[in-house]
Amino acid sequence: MSHLSLLNEASPVALSAIGAESQTFDGTGFVETSVPCGLKTAEIARLVEDYRQAAVNTKAAGFDRAEIHAANGYQIDQFLRVTSNNRTDGCGGSIANRARLLSEVVAAVTAVLGAGRVGVRLSPFSNANNVGIDSDTVATFGAAIDAQNDAGVAFLHLVEGQAGGPRDWPAGELEGLRDRFKGVYMTNNGYDRASAIAAVASGRADLVAFGKLYFFNPDLAERLARNAPLNPLPVAGPYGAGREGFTDYPTLAEVAA
Ligand SMILES: Cc1cc2nc3c(=O)[nH]c(=O)nc-3n(C[C@H](O)[C@H](O)[C@H](O)COP(=O)(O)O)c2cc1C
Repeated sequence: MSHLSLLNEASPVALSAIGAESQTFDGTGFVETSVPCGLKTAEIARLVEDYRQAAVNTKAAGFDRAEIHAANGYQIDQFLRVTSNNRTDGCGGSIANRARLLSEVVAAVTAVLGAGRVGVRLSPFSNANNVGIDSDTVATFGAAIDAQNDAGVAFLHLVEGQAGGPRDWPAGELEGLRDRFKGVYMTNNGYDRASAIAAVASGRADLVAFGKLYFFNPDLAERLARNAPLNPLPVAGPYGAGREGFTDYPTLAEVAA
């Protein structure tokens, strides 16, 4: 899910050489994602090693926890689903094979950061980046979630419905997947202060992740704690070629000044 210009003209790497027909931002505007190189079986180990190295870099940069992004049509999500995974080796075909990369990445990153310090983000009911809806979402994602129960994962983070879009899924299926995870559950998608408080108070979720609100409010946690007003959402959207509209949203103190 990338573009040649973002990779010093090297091809993106994916499970097969099929373009996502999606878009990515190249610093000046949105461009069609480039067709990736398909990974050979022997190269999967290198992919897992890349995640391990990323965890080493994370630690060196001063972070002590990380979330594995396995959602929204990105690489690990592509491996999970029958709609996008056409491999015939040990990472394709059966559900166990399709979930193998996720488990290997979680193990590699956990070995660096430690048990209870790595979370996993999944989006079972999202067709983000044209990844396709799995023909048996509950079986696929249920197995992927079950595997995390034994892996020392700190939290399961589900994008509920379509990221940034409707919160829809077949009745009870998301709740069923959530309940298969025995640890901390983090929810995301369309929450504001009131609905986040209600979700935690009712026991529906342990944690709530915010996307847009954090983007536009660099001091979001403080504002929510104080029930202070939030910055208005910009009309033009957050993507730009520089700071403007991207990282220049004021804190409460700056607004007051
Ligand atoms: C500007 C912007 C960029 C985003 N980029 C990504 C992305 O690169 N990968 C991803 O998985 N989700 C991305 N998201 C989705 C968010 O992670 C989140 O799931 C979504 O915005 C719903 O949460 P919210 O209602 O709290 O914003 C992006 C959202 C926004 C607003």
